[in-house]
Amino acid sequence: MSDRKILVTSALPYANGPIHIGHMLEYIQTDIWVRFQKQRGHRCYFVCADDAHGTPIMLKADREGISPEQLIAQVGKEHLIDFTEFGVAFDKYHSTHSEENKQLSSLIYERLRDSGHISSRTITQAYDPVKNMFLPDRFIKGDCPKCGAADQYGDGCEACGATYSPTELKNAVSAISGEKPIEKDSVHYFFNLADFTGMLRDWTSAGHLQAEVRNKLAEWLESGLQQWDISRDAPYFGFEIPDAPGKYFYVWLDAPIGYMASFKNLCARQGLDFDEFWATDSDAELYHFIGKDIIYFHALFWPAMLSGAHFRTPSAIFAHGFLTVNGEKMSKSRGTFITARTYLEHLNPEYLRYYFAAKLNAGVDDIDLNFDDFSQRVNADLVGKVVNIASRCSGFIAKRFANVLSANCSEPALFQDFINANKTIADFYETREFGKAMREIMALADKANHYIDEKKPWLLAKENGKDAELHDVCSMGLNLFRLLAAYLKPVTPVLAKNAEHFLNSQVDGWIDALQPLTSHAINDFSPLMTRVEADKIVAIVEASKENLEKTADKPKVKKFEPIAPAIEFDDFAKLDLRIAKIVKADHVEGADKLLQLTVDIGDETRNIFAGIKSAYAPEELEGKLTLVIANLAPRKMRFGLSEGMVLAAGPGGKDIWLLSPDEGAVAGMRVK
Ligand code: MSP
Ligand code: ZN
Repeated sequence: MSDRKILVTSALPYANGPIHIGHMLEYIQTDIWVRFQKQRGHRCYFVCADDAHGTPIMLKADREGISPEQLIAQVGKEHLIDFTEFGVAFDKYHSTHSEENKQLSSLIYERLRDSGHISSRTITQAYDPVKNMFLPDRFIKGDCPKCGAADQYGDGCEACGATYSPTELKNAVSAISGEKPIEKDSVHYFFNLADFTGMLRDWTSAGHLQAEVRNKLAEWLESGLQQWDISRDAPYFGFEIPDAPGKYFYVWLDAPIGYMASFKNLCARQGLDFDEFWATDSDAELYHFIGKDIIYFHALFWPAMLSGAHFRTPSAIFAHGFLTVNGEKMSKSRGTFITARTYLEHLNPEYLRYYFAAKLNAGVDDIDLNFDDFSQRVNADLVGKVVNIASRCSGFIAKRFANVLSANCSEPALFQDFINANKTIADFYETREFGKAMREIMALADKANHYIDEKKPWLLAKENGKDAELHDVCSMGLNLFRLLAAYLKPVTPVLAKNAEHFLNSQVDGWIDALQPLTSHAINDFSPLMTRVEADKIVAIVEASKENLEKTADKPKVKKFEPIAPAIEFDDFAKLDLRIAKIVKADHVEGADKLLQLTVDIGDETRNIFAGIKSAYAPEELEGKLTLVIANLAPRKMRFGLSEGMVLAAGPGGKDIWLLSPDEGAVAGMRVK
């Protein structure tokens, strides 16, 4: 395998609102591509950050009575939790309001200035005389000059679609204070984009862009490049321009530099060489995944800035289309403006990862999430085709062959077919034709099911003298299932991980060199994925409508508050934290989350009910040490008395980790 060095980014989400499933289309697309590259054995780094600067963030913090720093810290944390739960695995998630970004932004600005690419002049803009600030177009409202519709923004009319400048609005008022704006002069700084016309003409036609994007850029280049206004006056939340007190970099100047800054932070933590990726002679690959709305910034300003400041330019910009839901723009009133959080509260994130993968290609067309199609695809493909193979075969292997696979690979040619598909599937992943990759993988799943249908293990199981054949067929089925899970690993990493656990065999690299598992002991099967339930989708839509009601007047982002009230050290000191040995673990009849544990805490044994059944089988727990709160008052539960609490961490589901002490601990030790 060639030794590629790849740096990948997704666009930086604004820090003034929650992540929604439209955003997720991009982060999931990028994450699948990155996981694929890593699985191929390449050195691939995935960085991102919150885009923390600008007027909307400043004003939002203001409205909530907190500082912008508090707002972006809180929102940044929420964003990262959402991404993590969706399986989006950044190597670094940073913030544009960081020391690295401040330094790099200054450096790039100074290099551009010293090469004569920055100029300044006085411009006239709308100004709020009460708030004492210049007003971005979006913060001026009034009547449309064309159709007269009331309450329209300064940059365009939502009623008739007209675009105009804010000075043309009738009865204009500041959206912040309600006051009539005045006009005011101020000096602004500009990046002379036209200096880079030749460079951009070459760059945009040198294979770094998708065909549709290249055509769009040719039009823009044709109509001539304008100076880009890169400064904003105080008050502004951002970085002050080094040689211009009271002037700040416009958010879009330092936002893409945030890609570099996030990577710089990763370099410091992992001992990587920043210049190896960013110097003009770098042989590393650099890719930016973005939505089609921000092409102008990434395919014109950004390469020009980089080239003018003596850094390398991107290898490619990968733009995608917009997500619509049930054929329409996401809408708050229809309940289709679905936040990542609302989705996660109801459905398995891997459903959406698979659905997006099945619909994505390398183009910029919009992608529709249709709820019926979503349920049908996930249920038919992932549950009905892939996981079904494992459920059809595992029972016989467990009951009849003590969970050990046959010594034979009875259909080597079929196995080899599955291996041979790896080249095509890899090409589809590499070229972002994920939909085609998914169809290829599902065609293999059909083949595996067809094989099982033909061999009819359920009949073999009833006939005398067919044990060896039954063993071979079911083992073959599981070997094919293993390859399918490995092919899907970039898309459904948790499903793949659980399959690996079930088959007691990890798949680390790409699928070209895998051998069948023979005479191999596997683990008990537990359902790897359940069907999408229709009522969950109804619940998501309802919850999304409620979100709207809850947030209609109130700020969308919660105030900065700890999750639970602060406690004093004395309160903490009251806890009797003890190392405990789990001597016995049992299922609880009628409880779907609880396990009943008998733990030895040194001087006595206790009965504790713990909600950890989704993550542990009882037999895994027996003999293990963990941490318990021993002096929690006993609590009467439906199933009996619980006499303490086991400490665990994690988001839930399969991911609950019991806190376990270091080696050398013994039951009964007090901890603090
Ligand atoms: N902060 C800028 C990006 C700066 S990059 C240096 C921004 N932020 S955003 O939060 O509005 O969008 C982040 C990414 O999500 C963008 O690439 C945007 O195109 C994408 N999407 C936002 N809504 C989307 C859909 N409904 N569908 C698909 N992608 C969407 O732009
Ligand atoms: Zn209008």
